[in-house]
Amino acid sequence: MNICILGAGAIGSLWACYLHNAGHTVSLWTRGSEASISLSLDERPPLVFPCNQESQLSDTDVLLVTVKAWQVESAIHPIISLLKPHCSIIFSHNGMGAVETVLPQISDHPVYFATTTHGALRKDKNQIQHTGQGQTIIGSLNNLADDQLDKLVEAFNLALPPVHSDSNIGQALWNKLAINCCINPLTTLKDCRNGELAAKDTLETIETLCIEIAMVINAEGYTCDKNKLFTRTKQVIEATSANFSSMHQDIHHNRPTEIDYITGYLLQRAQAHNIDTPMNKKLFDQIKQKEALNDH
Ligand code: PAF
Repeated sequence: MNICILGAGAIGSLWACYLHNAGHTVSLWTRGSEASISLSLDERPPLVFPCNQESQLSDTDVLLVTVKAWQVESAIHPIISLLKPHCSIIFSHNGMGAVETVLPQISDHPVYFATTTHGALRKDKNQIQHTGQGQTIIGSLNNLADDQLDKLVEAFNLALPPVHSDSNIGQALWNKLAINCCINPLTTLKDCRNGELAAKDTLETIETLCIEIAMVINAEGYTCDKNKLFTRTKQVIEATSANFSSMHQDIHHNRPTEIDYITGYLLQRAQAHNIDTPMNKKLFDQIKQKEALNDH
């Protein structure tokens, strides 16, 4: 397949290398004007990808959008008219609420969401490290997407397994969002690695967050048990103990965070159901304050 990756960050670059190695023709599309980008995965010889080539984009079968939630609209808007009619579009980012804003503009395309737990680190512009084996779940976001879901899952699974399809992608996204609501703001405010959240007083805060989050997820019509969420959060804290969360890294590098699409999305849905979520609101406000001190 001809695959174009929109956004050459850590996860986008990881997929670019693995999809290329599986035999696909991969190109990149970035904010810059460079005509090619060289990427080496885990000290392997560099691969050179064509970049920002309109001819390549117009022949793309699959557009994989790996920019952050807050960049989705501005990144995809200028290129929609360049895509061929049946080009599949797969979004993959932390958080919820960003794709809804662009769905009406791409309703002629099969649209999917992919959520992944792979760890990747962009060491510099040309070096990408696969820091943690994970898995990927892909689900359809519109009716057009259902027909080709199996074919896409098979192709992505051959490139970087395991990849599964999920007919209830909304549930998978809420599961991920719930963990992000617990880990990301707290690691950012405490300026610590994920593992340090295992301290007793922090776990009490996380337990309160889980109670609030479970109420919202249930009100949305999805399954969430507060005790199971608390247990799963502790497992992720342990499994990723040495990592700095993505939000911590964003603040550290003076970038905007994904808070509006993580805790912000939870608060929006809580408000729609008249559910009180004071602990999540407190963390949201504190992250907003911290973000305002960044000059981006
Ligand atoms: O956003 C992140 O950093 C990750 O999704 C997670 C699971 C919190 C681990 O660091």
